Amino acid sequence: ARKLLAEAKTGANPFEGFVPHQPDKVDLTEFDAAYDHYEALGKAHFGKTAVVLVAGGLGERLGYSGIKLDIPVEVTESTPYLAHYAACLKAMEARMDKPKPVPFIIMTSDDTHTKTVAALEANHFFGLKKEQIHILKQELVPAIADNNGHLALEEKYKLILKPHGHGDIHMLLYTSGLAARLKQQGIEYLLFIQDTNGQVFNAAPAAIGVSVEKGFDFNSIAVNRIPGEAVGGLAKLIGNGKELTINVEYNQLDPLLRATVSPQGDVPNEQGFSMFPGNINVLVIKMASYVPMLDRTRGIIAEFVNPKYADQTKTVFKSPTRLETMMQDLAKLFGPDEKVGVTVFDRRWCFSANKNNIKDAAAKHAAGGPPESGATAESDFYLAGRMKLAAAGVKVETAKEELILGVPFTLGPRVLLRPAFAMTLAEVRTKISGGSISGDATLVLDGRDITLENVEITAGSALVIKAVDGAGVSAKNLKVGNAGFELIKLSAEEQNSSATPEYLRIRGYRIVNRGAAVYEFTSPGRYSL
Ligand code: UTP
Repeated sequence: ARKLLAEAKTGANPFEGFVPHQPDKVDLTEFDAAYDHYEALGKAHFGKTAVVLVAGGLGERLGYSGIKLDIPVEVTESTPYLAHYAACLKAMEARMDKPKPVPFIIMTSDDTHTKTVAALEANHFFGLKKEQIHILKQELVPAIADNNGHLALEEKYKLILKPHGHGDIHMLLYTSGLAARLKQQGIEYLLFIQDTNGQVFNAAPAAIGVSVEKGFDFNSIAVNRIPGEAVGGLAKLIGNGKELTINVEYNQLDPLLRATVSPQGDVPNEQGFSMFPGNINVLVIKMASYVPMLDRTRGIIAEFVNPKYADQTKTVFKSPTRLETMMQDLAKLFGPDEKVGVTVFDRRWCFSANKNNIKDAAAKHAAGGPPESGATAESDFYLAGRMKLAAAGVKVETAKEELILGVPFTLGPRVLLRPAFAMTLAEVRTKISGGSISGDATLVLDGRDITLENVEITAGSALVIKAVDGAGVSAKNLKVGNAGFELIKLSAEEQNSSATPEYLRIRGYRIVNRGAAVYEFTSPGRYSL
């Protein structure tokens, strides 16, 4: 701690002696033939993939009273993040030649453990098998009071404890022996995801495919970023006898470029993007190199410290600090013999988190940044559905964007293609052909065997089809016109009332069923609409 605090105080350059280069990257920002190729490859590897969810974070910026995993990602049907992730795992299983449960590792902390376990148990593990879920709890670490590394006390004999960051996942996967066990069971890839990114499984199949084909030991899902944007940049750093592909914080990237290869700093390319894609902290890691690395390092990730100083001389902290770790820093342990790469996706297709409370989200939007709030995460969840429909050739006419308490929300169409229905674009194309959807219409499809042919859903209307396994539903030449679902903004009184559910207050609206056409098929058979 003393060493890191001294470096923080002097503002030491952590990348002294390194020269930044473009990382090895695959660009999947377009839905083209390459995209389909990687998706098919990734889908064929679902049986060799386990999913690791880091969910120990406090979520201070959001300020939600419960755990973030319990928050609905959308409020048309109010699906919590945890339920959505579980549905994705079940859908992966259903697509295997010999279906077997996808191992699901969840990292909790003292701040989230009890509520996470309670949510799983209260919901019958969201349809997953209890045995496929592995919960690893991270410990809090003592907070530090000053540059000399004195421990901060809450009261005499009682330490202040704080979270140690998501980097703990690697140590826990090592000490629990779980990574080694999963490898023995035939798992070849670990997909690391965060608590509130409803988009992640849109990109996951193709990202896994890239790891397989390119032989990436470590693959970061990334997005195009504009130079100077407050998102860490992924760069290959060469120097000091090493070669690393790592996340460089945006405030360190520009000075590093100026001091080495680019006197103008981080300059845009023809498309206006930086050469260094933005890190969103979704990782695909290959077991064959990960497990030996854990054995070598015991999963210990280099710590960093980020004290907020109260004075010019950087002697006093505003509040006690602590040492932290980040899961993406594992890449620092990989050498030139391992392949570390980056796969770039359309931003809102692969990432839209719910991190900020409504006030801060509005302020971020006003300042031109991404709001990353409940409303934008939901709006983008529907956007991904529209992108899938458009990729299948459906005519999609998008409604206008509105500001709700200063946060942008696109009214529709609100499209929820559930994981059971499709996990890849190819699947959407085989199940949907022709047709149109417009304005603030809603479409929800949940079930493996549903097909739509020339289905027209007019603005404001809604079509919901749900079918259990074994129930095949085909809707053909259907024109849907009804009162649908309506988005209603909360009144000032509702917004401030504790009688309004908190998950609505963090977004400022509710969605009400005014007369959607809902078809539910609960027993096997063939049905047509
Ligand atoms: P976030 O950046 O969302 O941070 O973490 P946070 O701590 O949850 O929220 P704030 O900063 O207090 O507002 C990214 C991911 O890492 C997990 C979070 O749960 C989230 O999925 N995380 C974070 C951990 O698992 N452990 C930690 O100690 C910190």
